[in-house]
Amino acid sequence: MKKILVTGGAGFIGSNFVQMVLSEYHDCFLVNLDKLTYAGNLENLSSFADNPNYKFIKGDICDSKLVCDIMDEYKIEAIVNFAAESHVDRSITGPKIFIDTNVNGTLTLLEAARDRDIERFVQISTDEVYGSLELSGGQFTEDTPISPNSPYSASKAASDHLVKAFGHTWGLKYNITRCSNNYGQYQFPEKMIPLMINNALNDKELPVYGDGLYVRDWLYVYDHCTAIWKVLTDAEPGQIYNIGGCNEKSNLEVVDIILKRLGKPKSLIKHVKDRPGHDRRYAIDATKIITELGWKPSVTFEQGIIKTIDWYLENTKWLENIVSGDYQKYYQQMYDARQ
Ligand code: NAD
Ligand code: DAU
Repeated sequence: MKKILVTGGAGFIGSNFVQMVLSEYHDCFLVNLDKLTYAGNLENLSSFADNPNYKFIKGDICDSKLVCDIMDEYKIEAIVNFAAESHVDRSITGPKIFIDTNVNGTLTLLEAARDRDIERFVQISTDEVYGSLELSGGQFTEDTPISPNSPYSASKAASDHLVKAFGHTWGLKYNITRCSNNYGQYQFPEKMIPLMINNALNDKELPVYGDGLYVRDWLYVYDHCTAIWKVLTDAEPGQIYNIGGCNEKSNLEVVDIILKRLGKPKSLIKHVKDRPGHDRRYAIDATKIITELGWKPSVTFEQGIIKTIDWYLENTKWLENIVSGDYQKYYQQMYDARQ
């Protein structure tokens, strides 16, 4: 039985990954270490709480003793590190926690992994470490120089460098994945797609930053999870993989699809003050993972976005539970600052 430590498994992508592994691979034991920040939500995993192949532990990846105790008690063979502060806007208003978790937390995990010579350390990184592309063309490959622009992406780039340094210096067997924007079930509604769905459902304005012509390369979250699994189980150590769906869309195009599906008017769109340092475009060349590991996405954006909108429509209680907490205060502050 493979024993895997998943960090940040109560968040959006982490909880989708835990669900996928527990449902599809019955020879794995997963320990989920999560601090349960505002973004962590155990509701995402409520149907797996009693699964004999799963153990949840509330805690911080910066807590070296806790991490080492878990590694020893559960004889951990691999780590998949999802735990992070993940929202660019929050990194602009308060960058310090991004360094604490994304850099120092990753360092803590790396030290524990190195000292136990584990089979694999998979760092879940992001295409944002490459910086921004022009609207007119080009894609990020694994050889694109790292050039992060926000405190969030700078912290993720720093952790990527640390992971590589542990491989180079101590022979840690690692992989790094750099994925484009994810969307799908259980995404916290500070992120663009669920935020727009939630606002449209409540007939609230949809705050589009700047001209709305910023482009993201959207990938359905389940397809990100299958790619991570391929990397964890099939990749050679030391390899970096870009992951993306070849689904470039401007923010206005995405908002338009959401409004149409929900039968809401375009008049809900409100152009607001832009995000400082807003990256214009991300686009991923995923040739390496497709050709080397045989991965491919299971859905197009047009299919995935309908599944996603319908999931939020069917899970209004999940959304309400979040929105009724501190979220409203956060949203109002962000919204007011953009007027
Ligand atoms: P998320 O914000 O939804 O979840 C992050 C999780 O990490 C939460 O459950 C939170 O409680 C936990 N966490 C935060 N700090 C922690 C700490 N110090 N110790 C333990 N747990 C902690 O994030 P997400 O969107 O699911 O992203 C997961 C990972 O994937 C991140 O590393 C992010 O950089 C990366 N990524 C995200 C996207 C995307 O589109 N969302 C795309 C590419 C890469
Ligand atoms: O590319 C991968 C990255 O994608 C991940 O590493 C990050 O963790 C994840 O948060 C995401 O970053 P973005 O900044 O691209 O995602 P966000 O959902 O915040 O914004 C997507 C686009 O929508 C971006 O151009 C900003 C815009 N936007 C966002 C919000 C929240 C709006 O126009 N209005 C909004 O209210």
